[in-house]
This record gives sequence, C-alpha cells and structure tokens, in this order.
Amino acid sequence: MFVLKDIPKSRVSTLKTIVSVVLGASYSSQWYADVPRLGPLAQLIYEVPDSGESSDENDHHDHPSSESNGVPVGAIRCALDPYNPVKDGPADTRPRVYIMVIAVLAPFRGLGAGTMMLNHIVEHAKQLDAKAVYLHVRATDTDSQQWYSRRGFVETGRVPGYYRQTGGDAFIYTLDL
Ligand SMILES: CC(C)(COP(=O)(O)OP(=O)(O)OC[C@H]1O[C@@H](n2cnc3c(N)ncnc32)[C@H](O)[C@@H]1OP(=O)(O)O)[C@@H](O)C(=O)NCCC(=O)NCCS
Repeated sequence: MFVLKDIPKSRVSTLKTIVSVVLGASYSSQWYADVPRLGPLAQLIYEVPDSGESSDENDHHDHPSSESNGVPVGAIRCALDPYNPVKDGPADTRPRVYIMVIAVLAPFRGLGAGTMMLNHIVEHAKQLDAKAVYLHVRATDTDSQQWYSRRGFVETGRVPGYYRQTGGDAFIYTLDL
C-alpha cells in the first residue's frame, strides 16, 4: 500500500533524485529549499508493507526500520499560485494550485500512486478554497494528457515554446473546483 508524507529537509535529496530520474529535470536550490515549508503541497509517496502481511508480531525484527517505514517511489510538488491563466478573466482572489512535478518511479507505475497524490492535492486545494488545480503538460505527451483528462482536467490553453531547454509547446490542463 502507499502512504503520503510531508518532505522534511532530510528528505529533499530523495525528491531531487526522483525528479532527476523520472523527469530528467533540474530545479534551482531555492526551489528545493522551499519544499519543507510547503506541507501538504509537497509530498513523497512511500510503498509500505501491508500491516496484515505478517502474522508474527515479533517479525518486525527481521525488517530494517527504513523498510518498515516504506520505500519512496514518487513525489508531487506544487505551488500556491495567484496567477490567473485566463488573462482577460474577471478578477478573482481565490488561489490556484499549480502542480510543478508529479512523478512515480517506473516500476511502481500503474498501481494507483499517481492518482493518490493527485487526489490528495485536489482535496487540499478544496480545503484552501482554491479555484482550480492546473499544470503544464508537453503538447506531444498524449499519454499524460489522457491521464489528466480521465481525472477531470481539461485543456485550457497552449504555451508555445514553454520547454525552453528541450524545445516544444505545452498545454495547460485545468481542473476547476
Ligand atoms: C503520470 C504518472 C505520475 C502517473 O502515475 P501512476 O502511479 O502510474 O498513476 P496511476 O497508477 O494512478 O494511474 C496509471 C494509469 O495508467 C495505467 N497503467 C497501467 N500500467 C501502467 C504503467 N506501467 N505505467 C503507467 N501507467 C500504467 C493504469 O491502468 C492507469 O490508468 P487509468 O488512467 O485508466 O486509471 C506516472 O506515469 C509518471 O511518473 N510518469 C512520468 C512522469 C510524467 O509524465 N509526469 C507528468 C508530466 S505532466
């Protein structure tokens, strides 16, 4: 099963590794330094052994504590964003939650970890009375676009040349709350 946890300073390097391995991306040291302060907006997801897996209560002696606490397999990192992507839209003071990174290590994909992280962020965004959750997705990445579409997101814009380093356009995908 999967468990979500806040990212303390001591675990920022794990986030860094996941971002690098899954997305091949690098962010500034400030981007990482801000993470522990984000609370529910930045999470690591751990795979932990099901509690019913062992019938022997003393069995935990066989497991190093790092394993019983779970293995980090993915991450989500968001920002609270006052920016209104609809430039001519009416003034609106409700914030938006912007998903900057969502990533699951390849061997752990298709098991619900990504959906669990997304649902967590949507629920937190509702608690913040956010207007929407949104993100950029590569215009050529139809798999990810469909993944978001199946979870209620719709395409709300296109940003030519958004990926400056590697080239390519982005779509904005938005879930209105
Ligand atoms: C997008 C991503 C975060 C989803 O995480 P995940 O844990 O695989 O998500 P889930 O298990 O909740 O859902 C996976 C979906 O793909 C299907 N799937 C099955 N096997 C899969 C596999 N090996 N890999 C990916 N998806 C798989 C699932 O059935 C599910 O389908 P559904 O949308 O009909 O429910 C993950 O694939 C990833 O890290 N991709 C690379 C990074 C990326 O593209 N990030 C988003 C950029 S905008």
